[in-house]
Amino acid sequence: MPKHIVRLLLLMAAAAVLGYAAKIFFTSESFYKYGPYRADSVPELASQEPVFQTPGYCQGCHAERHAQWSANSHKSVSCEVCHGAALGHPLNGKLPIPTDTAKLCSLCHEAMPGRPGTQPQVEVAQHSSGQQCIVCHNPHSPKIVSAAVMVAGDAAAGAKRAAACSSCHGTNGISPNDTWPNLAGQHAAYLARILGAYKSGAQKDVMMTPIAQSLSDADVQDFAAYYGGLSCKAAPGNTGIGDAAAGKALANNCTACHGETGIAGNPAWPSIAGQKPAYLVNALKAFRAGLRKDPMMAGVARSLSDADISNLAAYYAGQNCGPATR
Ligand code: HEC
Ligand code: HEC
Ligand code: HEC
Ligand code: HEC
Ligand code: HEC
Ligand code: HEC
Repeated sequence: MPKHIVRLLLLMAAAAVLGYAAKIFFTSESFYKYGPYRADSVPELASQEPVFQTPGYCQGCHAERHAQWSANSHKSVSCEVCHGAALGHPLNGKLPIPTDTAKLCSLCHEAMPGRPGTQPQVEVAQHSSGQQCIVCHNPHSPKIVSAAVMVAGDAAAGAKRAAACSSCHGTNGISPNDTWPNLAGQHAAYLARILGAYKSGAQKDVMMTPIAQSLSDADVQDFAAYYGGLSCKAAPGNTGIGDAAAGKALANNCTACHGETGIAGNPAWPSIAGQKPAYLVNALKAFRAGLRKDPMMAGVARSLSDADISNLAAYYAGQNCGPATR
């Protein structure tokens, strides 16, 4: 047989094999059952159990999660978008908990032209600097709310009684001891909140707890107003505690809340620029160990090593907390 005929036959055979394979792979089974009259298959499809159960299904067993989710902005994102189809759950096992949230959350929140403005968007690389989104955001209640406290205290009244504090926090709010925090120029709303936490027992310290418990709510506001109004003239902190340059590199993970140089943009969150280095170390270790509880700091501190903590402390202690910035 001539060569070109052989080639043609081979080509035709290959095409036939391809066509048959496509027929097997791409034709729905119901085609053979119902032939061209596909409308007959609708009742059968309708009788199948839905794979997705809708959030109402979860409510009975995960009431607390459901309540939190439905009260917040993700209520338009169904549970199963993140947790997968729930058919068979809980009988056939747990539903998966998404682990790579940097990927999951970016699917909807990566800034891109043409994406509807109603969907909040961020430049992911800059915004999260490679961290998982749930380090800072609760997936069921993603908005980061500041528990902003109005400080209506009387600074003059606070000043009159500041002698009760000056032995440890200094006469001008700058502590004489590396392990005790400076208060001068700290955000008043944060001071009021943290003093309230010592007073209620939500935060504990052998020295501060009894002092805070002796204060009235009005005292708390007065001291917050007084110390918040002092200018911070701390001498540059002792940065010998770690490697400030290495700390600066790590500080990318802190800027969203504590500002570029340690001055927090949100008045309910603490500024940490110029703070006492040993105090910073203790605070970070307390967050890491869960002894000091804060949902935002817990996620951030979990992954820090001892060396990271010393380096961060060295960096922030050396930042200017002066009047120009605070
Ligand atoms: C009939 C009760 C029930 C319903 C309905 C139900 N769950 Fe569950 N779910 C459970 C039980 C029980 C567990 C296992 C808890 C455990 O072992 O800690 C579980 C575990 C989970 C887990 C894993 C938790 C973990 O700590 O590993 C997720 C996620 C979850 N459910 C999501 C959902 C979602 C989303 C829905 C709705 C689509 C839903 N569940 C509906 C009972 C239910
Ligand atoms: C935007 C994505 C998203 C949506 C929507 C969502 N979840 Fe989750 N869920 C997560 C992530 C991420 C975690 C892991 C959280 C963590 O490790 O802190 C989680 C954890 C859980 C857990 C296990 C841990 C816990 O906190 O108890 C349960 C149960 C759960 N979700 C149920 C639900 C239910 C029920 C709904 C709907 C009412 C829902 N989730 C909606 C992303 C989501
Ligand atoms: C399926 C898409 C989708 C996914 C996945 C998703 N989101 Fe959202 N998210 C939305 C939509 C839509 C809104 C706006 C809801 C509204 O305002 O009505 C929103 C709102 C937000 C907001 C703004 C909240 C506010 O009230 O201002 C934050 C923050 C957020 N999401 C973070 C996350 C994080 C973190 C994850 C991953 C755990 C995530 N989102 C996963 C769709 C999604
Ligand atoms: C280091 C902490 C941190 C991490 C990690 C983080 N965020 Fe945020 N995010 C914030 C803070 C703080 C805000 C509030 C900023 C503001 O009020 O402008 C915010 C706001 C948002 C908003 C609302 C923006 C708007 O315009 O309303 C979205 C959406 C968001 N984040 C998505 C994400 C996603 C997606 C990830 C993971 C890829 C992520 N975030 C990781 C701290 C973080
Ligand atoms: C005996 C020493 C001592 C006295 C007196 C004292 N404090 Fe403190 N204070 C501390 C120590 C130590 C800490 C840090 C505790 C820790 O590491 O958790 C602290 C922490 C604080 C904080 C939290 C600072 C931050 O950045 O989180 C505030 C606010 C505060 N004190 C206010 C006061 C006020 C107001 C007074 C006077 C009424 C006072 N303190 C008296 C020792 C003292
Ligand atoms: C998502 C926001 C957020 C991020 C990111 C964050 N923090 Fe915080 N940080 C807070 C809040 C809120 C508090 C106050 C906690 C409290 O009330 O106990 C705090 C408290 C602190 C304190 C204690 C301050 C004091 O005066 O007692 C230190 C130190 C601190 N953060 C360091 C860091 C470092 C270092 C990083 C980065 C590795 C970081 N934070 C990242 C929100 C954040």
